[in-house]
Amino acid sequence: MDSQDRDKVVEVFDDLEGLSRAAAGLFSRVAREAIESNGRFTVALAGGGTPRRTYQLLAEPRLREEVRWEAVHVFWGDERCVPPDDPRSNARMARQTLLDHVPVPGENVHPIVWMEDPRQSAADYEAVLRTCFADTLPRLDLIFLGMGEDGHTASLFPGSPALDEGPGWAVAVPSKDPARVTLTYPVFNNAVLIAFLVSGGNKADALDRVLHGSPGLEPSSAARIRPVSGIVRFLVDRAAAGESGS
Ligand code: 6PG
Repeated sequence: MDSQDRDKVVEVFDDLEGLSRAAAGLFSRVAREAIESNGRFTVALAGGGTPRRTYQLLAEPRLREEVRWEAVHVFWGDERCVPPDDPRSNARMARQTLLDHVPVPGENVHPIVWMEDPRQSAADYEAVLRTCFADTLPRLDLIFLGMGEDGHTASLFPGSPALDEGPGWAVAVPSKDPARVTLTYPVFNNAVLIAFLVSGGNKADALDRVLHGSPGLEPSSAARIRPVSGIVRFLVDRAAAGESGS
């Protein structure tokens, strides 16, 4: 069952495979439209485990050939502050599943670079964004996001000072272990399209709260993703939608 609430679209798939196929198809379609209109496609990838299958599908022959990778510019919504070959690195996961298998030019790939001081990583990433978006607030064509059981998204965790909107585009989250760097709400909410990928029954309560609110409770981190002039799509499986017993 699909539902639509103005700029918020929810699509429910049988399982992670269906969700991932839809997400990969969405990437390909948005890439084509953006490249036709603007000559390039800017996308921010999500970390966590859920998007892994989406990235693998994008690297398979049919979709790989559909996308004009030379015009794709890849960013990340957040990163763990670990060396690039650490298994916890979001950039490493995307490289292994997707980027090493498609002809995206190396100079178009913009990971959040690990530094001893996460604040330096955040400052460096903001500088990268300023270069790529001509010093104006980035308007990414597509941002993939995941969501945790506590309603966090990217590295915007409940109660974290990173939730407070400041002028920064990327901030450090030193309270996590490992520390994180995340884009901020102003950047997420300036995107053309945000696609949440949410799988599993353990996310059902958090997803319900994001979609429908919860009286007396502050909106969760994910619920505050509301593009000012864009669309949010939730690609979820039946378990996350609370439609199965799992
Ligand atoms: C990360 C993320 C984080 C993730 C959610 C969901 O790097 O971990 O950016 O926000 O998307 O925690 O993770 P799963 O997809 O593994 O459930």
